Amino acid sequence: MERKLRKPFLEALRGKTQAVPPVWLMRQAGRYLPEYRATRAKAGGFLDLCYTPELAIEVTLQPLRRYQFDAAILFSDILVLPDALGRKVAFVEGEGPILEPLVGQADIQRMTGEGFHERLAPVYATLKGLAKAIPAQTALIGFAGAPWTVATYLIEGKGGTDFANAKAWIYGRSADFEALIDKLTDFTVEYLLAQIEAGAEAVQIFDSWASALSEMPFRRYCIRPMQTIVERLRARHAEIPIIGFPRACGALALDYVAETGVDAISLDPGVPAAWAASHLQPKACVQGNLDPMLLVAGGKPMEREIDRLVAELGQGPYVFNLGHGIVPQTPPEHVARLVEHLRAR
Ligand code: CP3
Repeated sequence: MERKLRKPFLEALRGKTQAVPPVWLMRQAGRYLPEYRATRAKAGGFLDLCYTPELAIEVTLQPLRRYQFDAAILFSDILVLPDALGRKVAFVEGEGPILEPLVGQADIQRMTGEGFHERLAPVYATLKGLAKAIPAQTALIGFAGAPWTVATYLIEGKGGTDFANAKAWIYGRSADFEALIDKLTDFTVEYLLAQIEAGAEAVQIFDSWASALSEMPFRRYCIRPMQTIVERLRARHAEIPIIGFPRACGALALDYVAETGVDAISLDPGVPAAWAASHLQPKACVQGNLDPMLLVAGGKPMEREIDRLVAELGQGPYVFNLGHGIVPQTPPEHVARLVEHLRAR
């Protein structure tokens, strides 16, 4: 019964403090690894990589061959969901993702979900393959983007903007915006349920642009959809831990944890560790939050910060991670050092 084996990562998510914090890193598969770049070149387009199980399995496993991570994260992207809803999604080298912007209600209605699971079948096949291929102590993480973050890509057509169009919808066309969020919430639940049925043992929901919303829209478009997602996943799979990543939401993290009921919250580098230990950890496992640039720097400064984070957060349920994804210029040997240092403490 492989699935009954105690996996430290899953134990921590379930609220059990581990002697050595389990560790994985956001974007642990990616361009900082030469073997990823080689597979990526072979695949052609980025979406081809996501939709070819053999290659997606390979790049998921690459970091596990180098480092003793406690979890593997499915190799895919949050934007396969809009792609499976029939929106045009392109990954342009050096520019990030580009989408055909949603204009109005008619575009939302056109996202009927026809062929949704067929388009995503390769992602489920990847999870099934990974469930068999990963080491026995390693947990398998599935993921999706949160409705707000996916909505920003749909409306703006790209990431990291000032979100002027998305906010114009929120403040001026709230019924349309609400319809979009509801639709994304429904399909996100469908997608995550299928991932769990294909072998995901925990799921993480990335709300990378939560940072852009002020209090009231944050409550309505980040907390509320996440409540629905958690409720519906729990109704079917109560045993699967759920990690939320409401990036850079400041003090709203308190209500996010209390109201969504997530098992764990992933913290960005701006969250003070001692504050997280006293205010968040009593209610949820915390994950994070080393600055990815400190992993680029490496050496003593990185080691001191690892020690500090573990001293502050290691007394409760804690998963070591970065505060955001690994950046491409990260030296792979610094990742090796991070894992060794954590385990040797
Ligand atoms: O190893 C892993 O963490 C799993 C794979 C993963 C990717 N994207 C692969 C990827 C995961 C979990 C994601 C999530 C994702 N994708 C998020 C949420 C997390 C975050 O970073 O805030 C977001 C916002 C996206 C959308 C996205 N996809 C962007 C903004 C980019 C371009 C940025 C970049 O690094 O180029 C992508 C492309 C992408 N997704 C790459 C990878 C490895 C790089 C593409 C390439 O190989 O050319």
